[in-house]
This record gives sequence, structure tokens and C-alpha cells, in this order.
Amino acid sequence: MTYLRSARRRPLVVAAVGAATLGLLAPAASAAPADVRYAPGAPGLGDPYFPDLGNGGYDVGHYHLKTAYDPDTDHLTGTTTIKATATQNLSRFNLDLYKLNVRSVRVNGREAAFDRTGRHELEITPRKGLRERSMFTVVVRYDGVPETLSGPIVFDLPYGFLHTRDGATIVSEPNAANTWFPSNDHPRDKALFTIETTVPRGLKVIGNGRLVEHRSVRGEDTFVWREDRPMATYLATGQIGRFDVSTATTGKGVPQLDAVDSDLASDPNVRATPGWTTRATDELAGYFGPYPFTTTGSIVEHNNVPPLNLENALETQTRPTYESPPIEKGVVHEISHQWFGNSVSVGRWKDVWLNEGYALWTEKFWAERHGGPSALESFKQIYADPPQMPEPRPRFWDVVIADPTRDQMFHRAIYFRGGMALEALRHKIGKERFLELTRTWLADNRYGNATTEDYEALAERISGQDLDAFFKTWLHTPGKPPTWW
Ligand code: TRP
Ligand code: ZN
Repeated sequence: MTYLRSARRRPLVVAAVGAATLGLLAPAASAAPADVRYAPGAPGLGDPYFPDLGNGGYDVGHYHLKTAYDPDTDHLTGTTTIKATATQNLSRFNLDLYKLNVRSVRVNGREAAFDRTGRHELEITPRKGLRERSMFTVVVRYDGVPETLSGPIVFDLPYGFLHTRDGATIVSEPNAANTWFPSNDHPRDKALFTIETTVPRGLKVIGNGRLVEHRSVRGEDTFVWREDRPMATYLATGQIGRFDVSTATTGKGVPQLDAVDSDLASDPNVRATPGWTTRATDELAGYFGPYPFTTTGSIVEHNNVPPLNLENALETQTRPTYESPPIEKGVVHEISHQWFGNSVSVGRWKDVWLNEGYALWTEKFWAERHGGPSALESFKQIYADPPQMPEPRPRFWDVVIADPTRDQMFHRAIYFRGGMALEALRHKIGKERFLELTRTWLADNRYGNATTEDYEALAERISGQDLDAFFKTWLHTPGKPPTWW
């Protein structure tokens, strides 16, 4: 799903996408003239950190993820229906899918040939070429036990599809969405989602967006969630377990749904999480501009489910996922991500400091607004004594924020030096200008993607200053920058 930049044109785009989702636009192209040339879509989107994530040649508008999961066997059975638009004449195209067994693929209702190539590619050849700008539908039937990822990218902890004691926790940033559904698995292709999951009776499923249907048939329960604003694949979730669910509406009128593992419901921090979420959703809207989504909330998961840990939180869209017990600044961090990361997403994964730096900066700004130290004081302390990570990771000041390498993309420096760079910029251009820059950034790029270079250009435009040297020092060069205050 591609959103155009110009604010004036955006409503038209939204209308077109809505119509496309409802199937009101032209379906597949009719018979092609004989001289039309078709070519394969690229198997990647050219992201240097993940060359084979995402695919070229089409743009997904909607995913319908229909799955059934059995916690006793860890087995997932799925049917993914993708509505997409070709961006070139396609002879074939790829989806990303890691392991799992593909049973069949249909394109526009007809059986299509498929092949498994590379580490996580599903290569699909429809009977007929797909014309540029035509809409097409892909249905993939698949099953298997989703493999949990682990490794240096995410704190050396397991992530992706975590098989828990009585269900599953799904936290896919950056590259694990394709371990549970076939997808164009890169934030550059956002789409609307319907997440429909069937589980044994007694379990619940908590997804993104709003619960639009719940049905009980013969010992099984099905939950249908719908996210009606563009979402990157890594932010999609459908957590399975025993949950206590509560609902509310924020003061500014945003519907809220909070879910907590039933065993944790008495923990004081867990009980405070819905209130923190309400406050962060409304208060951050006052600083940054309207909350970008149509619902908010939280999912609090059991920690230490052997042998897997979440040990963290992920900003799953509209409904962040927390390890228990959440803390207030963690909630502020994940709600901040709804603007920084979820509404405005990275253009390439090396831009991730724009997510984590802003979310960390928001924590310090929040403290400043609530009787704590000023953000400047907080960052002076971090400057004096930055958080280090265990060997063999690089030392804090050695990480280049705007291009940290794939395995350091969640290094503490991305968070803390990233946030510090923003505080230094705030000092340099002034507090009011900095907030204006932030609001303009969010408004101009809403539901889209943007890069570090885009941010630098906007900062120069809004401030009227030449910031090349500043950004070079803070974002593009290793080493401790000179004091900025
Ligand atoms: N974005 C998360 C944060 O808010 C960190 C993170 C990245 C993460 N990938 C993850 C957390 C996977 C849990 C699972 O800082
Ligand atoms: Zn974060």
C-alpha cells in the first residue's frame, strides 16, 4: 500500500484504497495484447541489511490471515489471502515465507505453480501474466510449526513466533513475520489486515485493531481482528493464551482494549498498565499531533515461560506487547512508537534510530513534563555514563547511528545516542522549532516511510539552518561528540 506524500492528495488515496479493499475497483486485467512483455518481480527490495526481505513488482493492499493453532502440538494451519496491485507487468513474483509447508497457491482463483527458493522465498508463477496496475488476489494454503528466531539482531533473545505454555506470543520485529505468514515482509509495503485465528475453547486471541467477530463452534473459538490503518508486517500479531480483557475509551475518545495473562491480573504494575496507556495515548497526541490509529491498548504476557523469554516489549500496532511487569516509561516508549515507527516507518532498516531514538527521547521528555529531571539533565547523565552492552558488541560510542550494521540495529546506542542526538538538535534549533519539526515530520509522512536523509532535509527546512556538520557528527560518525549544551 503506497501513500502519497502530498497532504492534499492523501484523502483521495485513502478513498481509493478503501474502494480497492471492498473490491470495487477493476479486478485483474483482461486479455493482454500479444506484444506485452512480462518480467519476474524482484526477490528483494534492496534493503542492505535484509536483501531478500520484501519483494518487488507489486504492492499489497490487504492481508487476510486465517489460521488455526493448536498449543498442544505447536502446529499452525493457515490460509493467507492477499489483495495486491501489480506495479509492473509480472510473469512471476515472490512472497517471503520461512520454512512451513505450502499446500497450494491460487492467483485470481486459479491454481498457480510455486517453488521454494533461497532461505525464505516462495516463488509464484501464475498461469497468466499480471498486467501493471491490475489488482490480483493470492491465496496461499500452508501449515507447520513456526520456527522461533534468535540471534544477534534482537538482543540475542528468541523472537518471532514464541510457543508459550498455553499459546503463543508473536513479536516479529524486524524479520520474523514471514515465519508465520507468507508476506511482502518489509515495512515499505504496509497494508490493512484481517487476523482471524481459531484456537481450542478456553483460549483467547488478541490481535491488532478491533475485534470484529468472535464465534464458538464445536469446541473451538475463532477471533477476528481488523486493523484499518496501514500496518507494517512486523507489527502484526495474534497472541494466543488465557487473558483477562478490559475495555475503555480515552478522554480524547480513542477506544481502548487491554489484555493481560490471567495469572498476572493481580500485579500492581499490570493493573496500572491500562491507565498508563490511556494517559500516554492522549498526552502524546497533544505533543505530536493526533493519535494515528483507531484503537489503543496493551497485551501483557507472562514472563519467563521456559525456555523462551520475551524480556522486553514490542510496539505491535495499536496494542503493544509487554513482558510482565510493565513499567510506566516502557508504556510511554511503546505508545510513542505508534507515531514513530508505526505511523511513520523506516524506509530501510538502517533508519531504525528514528524509531528507537524518538521513543527513548519521548521517555525523557515525559519525565520532564511530569516533575522529573529535564530531558537535558537525563541526556547529560547518559552522555557521562552511557549504557554498554556485553562483548563482543561494539562500545557505545563506536556505533554509527544512521548505519549501525544489521546485527547492531537494536544496540543500546541506537536508543540512547539516537535520543541524545534528538535532544542535541532540540538544543540547537530551539524547543519550539524541534516540536514543530517533529509534528511536521509525523504529518507529512503519516502512514508512510521515511529515511534519515528525509529527516535531515526537513530539519534544515524547518530550522533554516545548515545542519550538515551537526548530523555528520551525531549520526554518521563514530566517536563521542563534543558536549552540545
Ligand atoms: N522495538 C522494540 C522496542 O520497543 C525492541 C524489539 C525489536 C523487540 N525486536 C523485538 C522486542 C522483538 C521484542 C521482540 O524497543
Ligand atoms: Zn522501542
